[in-house]
Amino acid sequence: MAKRYGNIVGWGKYVPEKVITNADLEKMVDTSDEWIVSRTGIRERHIASPGENLSHMAIEASKDALEMAGVQAHDLGLIIVATSSPDYLTPPVSSQVQHALGAKDVGALTLVVGCPGFVYGLAVAQQFIASGGCDNVLVVGAELISRFTDWKDRGTCILFADGAGAVVMQVSEEPSGVLSYVLGSDGSGADYLILPAGGTAIPPSQEALDQGLHYLRMDGNKVFRFATRVLGKALEQAIQQAGLSTEDIDLFIPHQANARIIESAARHVKLPQEKIFMNIDRYGNTSAASIPIALCEAFEQGRSKIGDTLAFVAFGAGLTWASAVVKIGEHAKSIPVRRSWIARPAWFPLDPLLGVTRATSSNVIKILFNLLKLPGYLLRKIIGFFRG
Ligand code: ACO
Repeated sequence: MAKRYGNIVGWGKYVPEKVITNADLEKMVDTSDEWIVSRTGIRERHIASPGENLSHMAIEASKDALEMAGVQAHDLGLIIVATSSPDYLTPPVSSQVQHALGAKDVGALTLVVGCPGFVYGLAVAQQFIASGGCDNVLVVGAELISRFTDWKDRGTCILFADGAGAVVMQVSEEPSGVLSYVLGSDGSGADYLILPAGGTAIPPSQEALDQGLHYLRMDGNKVFRFATRVLGKALEQAIQQAGLSTEDIDLFIPHQANARIIESAARHVKLPQEKIFMNIDRYGNTSAASIPIALCEAFEQGRSKIGDTLAFVAFGAGLTWASAVVKIGEHAKSIPVRRSWIARPAWFPLDPLLGVTRATSSNVIKILFNLLKLPGYLLRKIIGFFRG
């Protein structure tokens, strides 16, 4: 059997319209544009308006990715939504996305791995595709961190932002898609980036609200030191595991957390400046959404193209980290998908082969299959009768 690769064949992004600049933040907390730009690289960020939910952003990004891939939602084998800021603790937001897309009965899971969630999602999708479990997988990274942000805390409110990005991975026999990945976790640093209340450890209460435990808390220095320690190493490991060297990487698309952290990871593997993709200046830190949003922009700007080898690396709450080397293969060379073996538009309810609804067609196939088994069944019964 031919080796199965998970090629990225479609991508999409969504960011809220509302923009908050550093000048806006100067009016809210004791900070300055100069401080924020020099320490983080951020100039402005998109923030969701009231009523604009995480699921909405994830759905919009997914629709674009599916359209570009030419894949119908019902032909997906799995939906993965990476987020730490879902609409609700339960139900999982992945089911909201599955329902809204019209991906009837498709399996859906929510990954909570902090900022590296999207890269974790790519790795999971790759495994499902390589094992033959699925032919098409939707991987979404989406965050609405602004709802957990204490807008009086200058240590965090300058960093985080909202948005969503999505990709469709499709089986291909060309060596493409996720060529390697590294996943890591170190729970000893759990307190460095934590949302204390709202889970089962500290359920919502007036006392928790009064203490501001429903806001994200971060020890910026500790997270910074952790990130500079693991990121470069994780990137190096992924490149080595793919059997490549730094020169083979066409573009480095890191988690957009801090320009200084990104540059330190690139220095570790001696990647030149022109191979680093950064859009943190306009988006801030959108956590699990930052890599897929950056990936879309890289394509939109012509910085990335079909045939390129990309390197992703991310770190975040947990503490966690992940890296991956991904080759963008030719879509046209992808082998036909199994679940959509007869192409038909989404609005067309009939199976073109049998002229009946898809559910009916599968029942007809089952009946025909059972009829074929009938002679053997009768023969076994007759032999059994004569043997007594
Ligand atoms: N404006 C002005 N001054 C500030 C601000 C601000 N917004 N925030 C902190 N300061 C002050 C501090 O109070 C401190 O003042 P002091 O020297 O008088 O005590 C001084 O600036 C230096 O503070 P540091 O915390 O040492 O500043 P640092 O250079 O470490 O930068 C930062 C802080 C930007 C938060 C940095 O530590 C960082 O980026 N850490 C990583 C954070 C991160 O990426 N988190 C997300 C990871 S997970 C995810 O992506 C969801």
